[in-house]
Amino acid sequence: MRKKVIAANWKMNKNRGEAESYVNDFLPLLGDINAVDLEIIICPPFTCLNTLHVALQKSCVKTGAQNLFWETSGAFTGEISVPMLTDCGCSHVIVGHSERRHILDESDHNINRKVKSSLAGALIPILCVGETLQERQNDLARQVVKEQLEKALFEVDFTAGNLIVAYEPVWAIGTGINASPDDAQDMIAFIREQLAQSYNHELAAATPILYGGSVKASNMHDFILKADIDGALVGSASLDPREFSEIVRSVKNA
Ligand code: PGA
Repeated sequence: MRKKVIAANWKMNKNRGEAESYVNDFLPLLGDINAVDLEIIICPPFTCLNTLHVALQKSCVKTGAQNLFWETSGAFTGEISVPMLTDCGCSHVIVGHSERRHILDESDHNINRKVKSSLAGALIPILCVGETLQERQNDLARQVVKEQLEKALFEVDFTAGNLIVAYEPVWAIGTGINASPDDAQDMIAFIREQLAQSYNHELAAATPILYGGSVKASNMHDFILKADIDGALVGSASLDPREFSEIVRSVKNA
């Protein structure tokens, strides 16, 4: 049985004080939900990582980063390495988010280096893949996602539970227009098939694959009922502790 995973991507939002008050509001709303039910991860900006980790220490909620650099230390101005992230209490890291691919020109090659480096440092990568609207309209969605996956995982070895994949169609991110649960299921089953072909069926079956793109409390239920969808990567709806706790609860109750 794969574990359900709900990850919050705060993007470039919240300072340390706001992160602390979020935790104060969020934890009581979780009630009896615990780590056996599902994995909850919050990925704040780098500047809030340690504050959040300390505030969450007695809870089942984990912290993740939104990016990393693949070298461990050295003359890389402005970059942050895996050992630095684990030192801040991170267990997960988002890799290849579409905002980084499209706004910051992040290449598949660098995404591959980041996946390798996070796995080498015992940080679980949440690898994001997804097509643009134009690619979908031109019937290229599967081809694009397949290539992103192949390039990101080139010469990558991972074991069950060490890698999470998030299918995030670019046109659904931050737009309020979510993919239909059927389309998301279709692509996520396709991703699982690709993993089975590149690795093996057992590993593919044990790898959590999330949907991301305009997930909110009112639509989470429809996604989580799908056979291959193991949870969500949530952007704007995760900024509100109540809304995010309702998303978590709807996954738990499914
Ligand atoms: P959204 O973002 O939920 O605001 O659409 C999702 C993401 O970017 O991971």
